[in-house]
This record gives sequence, C-alpha cells and structure tokens, in this order.
Amino acid sequence: MRFNLKVSRFDPSKEESPHLETYEYEAEGQLNVIQAIRRVFQTVDGTLSFRDTDCHRGVCGLCSMMIDGNRRLACMCIAEDGMTVAPPPNRKVIKDLLFELD
Ligand code: FES
Repeated sequence: MRFNLKVSRFDPSKEESPHLETYEYEAEGQLNVIQAIRRVFQTVDGTLSFRDTDCHRGVCGLCSMMIDGNRRLACMCIAEDGMTVAPPPNRKVIKDLLFELD
C-alpha cells in the first residue's frame, strides 16, 4: 500500500521558516510514525533529519513530536495516510524533525 506523510522540513542555517513536504512511501502493513519516517528516509529522501529513537515502547520519550497538531510519541502512534509530523513547538530545531534535547 502507498501512504502519504507530510513532514516539516527546515534548515535554520538556510531558511527563515519551516515548510511542509509531502512524501509517498510504501508499506506492507501498519507502521508506527517513527517507522514511517524511517521508511521515507531510507526509500525516498535520505536528506531528511530525524532522531532514530531508542526504545520504541513509549519509555524514552525521545520520539515526541507534533502529529496532526497534537503532541504524541511517534513510536506509539500508527501512521495513517496523510498525517503531518513536525517537531515539538517548544524545542529548538536543529534540522527538520531533529531538535535539541535538554
Ligand atoms: S522511541 Fe522511546 S518513547 Fe518513542
């Protein structure tokens, strides 16, 4: 099946503000959002920056991001067609979905 994922892209060294880019990726079954981002990175656009997180069980909190406007853990959220992902609003963006930690 083919899915679309809208991703916030932003390089603060070159751009003044983020913009959304839509990617189409393929998946056989359900992926969680961090798996969908990884699929886009591996098969569509290797320039996408994100934190390839650790636990995948909702424990570490490193995959926190805005998913369709709500702050969620990407590893605990099933990717749906047309979803939008962006970094948390209170974090300094390093690039795209990669943001500074405390
Ligand atoms: S990967 Fe650890 S909470 Fe999502």
